[in-house]
Amino acid sequence: MLKDQDRIFTNLYGMHDRTLAGARARGHWDGTAGIIEKGRDWIVSQMKASGLRGRGGAGFPTGLKWSFMPKESDGRPAYLVVNADESEPGTCKDREIMRHDPHTLIEGCLIASFAMGAHTAHIYIRGEYIREREALQAAIDEAYDAGLIGRNACGTGFDFDLHITHGAGAYICGEETALLESLEGKKGMPRMKPPFPAGAGLYGSPTTVNNVESIAVVPTILRRGPEWFAGFGRANNSGTKIFAISGHVNNPCVVEESMSISFEELIEKHCGGIRGGWDNLKAVIPGGSSVPVVRGENMRDAIMDFDYLRDELGSGLGTAAVIVMDQSVDIIKAIWRLSKFYKHESCGQCTPCREGTGWMMRVMERLVRGEAEVEEIDMLFDVSKQVEGHTICALGDAAAWPVQGLIRNFRDEIEDRIKAQKTGRMAAE
Ligand code: NAI
Ligand code: SF4
Repeated sequence: MLKDQDRIFTNLYGMHDRTLAGARARGHWDGTAGIIEKGRDWIVSQMKASGLRGRGGAGFPTGLKWSFMPKESDGRPAYLVVNADESEPGTCKDREIMRHDPHTLIEGCLIASFAMGAHTAHIYIRGEYIREREALQAAIDEAYDAGLIGRNACGTGFDFDLHITHGAGAYICGEETALLESLEGKKGMPRMKPPFPAGAGLYGSPTTVNNVESIAVVPTILRRGPEWFAGFGRANNSGTKIFAISGHVNNPCVVEESMSISFEELIEKHCGGIRGGWDNLKAVIPGGSSVPVVRGENMRDAIMDFDYLRDELGSGLGTAAVIVMDQSVDIIKAIWRLSKFYKHESCGQCTPCREGTGWMMRVMERLVRGEAEVEEIDMLFDVSKQVEGHTICALGDAAAWPVQGLIRNFRDEIEDRIKAQKTGRMAAE
């Protein structure tokens, strides 16, 4: 369990002074020059030792990703790009950081950019996050005025510029290569990987794309030490983590907790329990809309980390957006709504996704009404498998997994609805 003094994002607990003075009072920008003076290799090794896995959803080790950046410049500039295009349904954790504690992110940008030899960083922020962009810009201006960033940042001799780019509302621009295309002024369509951005990213230059939370925790990890951070959670799933809990809990909230906290403790300690009690829990999507839904009875003892949710429950931690649904929910309709979302957001450049998302949505529509045949359940599962793993980017997988989770976990409910509909029709005839 996380103690108050171990929280990185104290803003989540009422300390809302987001000015530079407030940030300094909370310990940000303390000894930044000293961290930079320890050198690139030291910073990357500390990040590897911390065990931090990317907080955008995929959980790729952050220190390892940084180590892919070239050590020596080949004439191309290097870039850090911060993915602040937080759009995964249910997810609003990065919003809290940018709205209330922007200096943690700016300091993290400086240190991470230095560690990767990047003199320029871009924060690509979700179009709807207008107040957050304003808060971030005000903090960037303060940091420039105080000499923390810009020429000779923090007096270290390192020149560093930080820019914000505002998205225009497309979910797909949160995919890292679509984001790079959008930053370059083009239509936000994902690129094939490899090459990964470290080889050819923004304008064809070495680039690392990291999530807001991943970058915002960096200064605290380096100040307190990687062992401190790695002391939370389990092996391979370490650190503190921000969870955004929504739906049918008594107190929906965004909280920072220890990774690997149990679902029950997370809900009881921070959300005042499940609405109507634990027996009323029907289903949980533990990591934002892209991960499969889990039956409520399997969640109570679940450990909230990457490996447990994937290996034991066939789901995932994703963005740690925990969507709780009680018995009042029509689960088939809830997943249909996600299918509709993915169909709408598909960029349409690859056939399995463009056609498959529409196909899945239309069958889901009929399942909601109970008008399909029972055999179509397997057909839908089969179609979702044709989409999964056969597309340019992860949106195809993200559209397939909720449908697969529904069929795996709530097949009885789908069949019951079809049978009830049939019985009703026959009675009417
Ligand atoms: P991914 O697994 O393809 O990549 C994750 C990161 O690791 C990327 O930065 C990638 O460049 C890097 N990487 C992976 N393999 C690499 C290799 N062999 N060499 C060098 N770098 C490598 O996952 P992706 O598509 O970036 O993200 C999918 C996740 O995004 C989903 O799990 C979902 O949870 C999350 N997501 C988050 C959203 C949000 O609002 N935060 C929105 C939508 C999805
Ligand atoms: Fe576009 Fe979908 Fe293909 Fe991704 S998987 S590139 S969103 S069509």
